[in-house]
Amino acid sequence: MTEPLLVARSIRKTYRLNRGQTLQAVDDVSLEVRPGEVLGLVGESGCGKSTLGRCLLRLTDLTSGELLFEGHDISRASERTLRPLRPRMQMVFQDSYASLNPVRRIGDLLAEPLKIHRDVHGQRRTRATIAARLEELMDLVGLPVSALARYPHEFSGGQRQRINIARALALSPRLIVADEPVSALDVSVQAQIVNLFTDLKERLGLTYVFIAHDLAVVRQISTRVAVMYLGTIVEMGETDTVLHTPAHPYTAALIAAVPEPVIRLHASRTLLRGDVPSPIAPPSGCRFHTRCPKAEARCAQDAPTLRSLGDERLVACHFPIVG
Ligand SMILES: Nc1ncnc2c1ncn2[C@@H]1O[C@H](COP(=O)(O)OP(=O)(O)OP(=O)(O)O)[C@@H](O)[C@H]1O
Ligand code: SF4
Ligand SMILES: [Mg+2]
Repeated sequence: MTEPLLVARSIRKTYRLNRGQTLQAVDDVSLEVRPGEVLGLVGESGCGKSTLGRCLLRLTDLTSGELLFEGHDISRASERTLRPLRPRMQMVFQDSYASLNPVRRIGDLLAEPLKIHRDVHGQRRTRATIAARLEELMDLVGLPVSALARYPHEFSGGQRQRINIARALALSPRLIVADEPVSALDVSVQAQIVNLFTDLKERLGLTYVFIAHDLAVVRQISTRVAVMYLGTIVEMGETDTVLHTPAHPYTAALIAAVPEPVIRLHASRTLLRGDVPSPIAPPSGCRFHTRCPKAEARCAQDAPTLRSLGDERLVACHFPIVG
């Protein structure tokens, strides 16, 4: 098997709050991202998806754990050490407008990373090289070259997301973490942007971690999927396996909560009851036990760890749904 592009081992991210309280946003997450795959990251609001995404690109410090990118240990690497790696790992955010400086033309915004970072030979790029690259980027994301002379507010949400994607692509990355990149868009536009991501992946040989709360989007784009609950991964495996035969009661409940059953569910229908508990004082044992229809006494005491169900799928549950 090929070397993973990214390896995370027991990653934790703890936020210190007022009055000495701590919040475990990401708690003991281990995963691998393989070259060419799309790993979908799903879970309810506040479960730690964005925090994990930022940890994976070292856009934030890890509280503990190990992180390898292309074999380099970047767990505690300084910004200076990370700098030459930065071009190869990029992020696309949900809010297409917030990430674009409104007073600058698109051409200037996209040229910025090309001016800051040297090329693969350690040389500064010439103006002509940058200009040619900008045209190439517009072509890649399906925008006219004339867009380079315009300002962010002159575009629709979908077009602005194309611009954000172009900026992420500028330095020819290998890995893109996309944090809910289509969640703020109209459904019809969502499909176009998801198709663009798929198309770019094929053309440029990219690898994605694709964060979404919409299971239909995740099913469309992801080869594998990781389901998060209160900072932990509760199930991870091939998208078809996980979405058609969920083994973790939380995954089953998430799927059952999809209003239009875009995914035909073979497992029994369970519904989520109650609210997500606070990550400041998470439940003992299995964090899902306060809402789980299958919970037994043991679940409140022993925290289940991720283990294999034999089909390249991992599940953290004492009583997984089988068959
Ligand atoms: N800078 C911060 N300081 C303190 N707590 C934070 C900080 N950032 C996130 N959190 C908390 O960490 C937890 C995980 O947040 P995160 O934004 O990663 O979740 P998410 O799954 O991306 O949610 P959403 O679907 O709403 O985007 C939440 O409880 C959130 O309130
Ligand atoms: S370990 Fe128990 S509470 Fe947790 S998901 Fe499994 S059955 Fe439910
Ligand atoms: Mg988020």
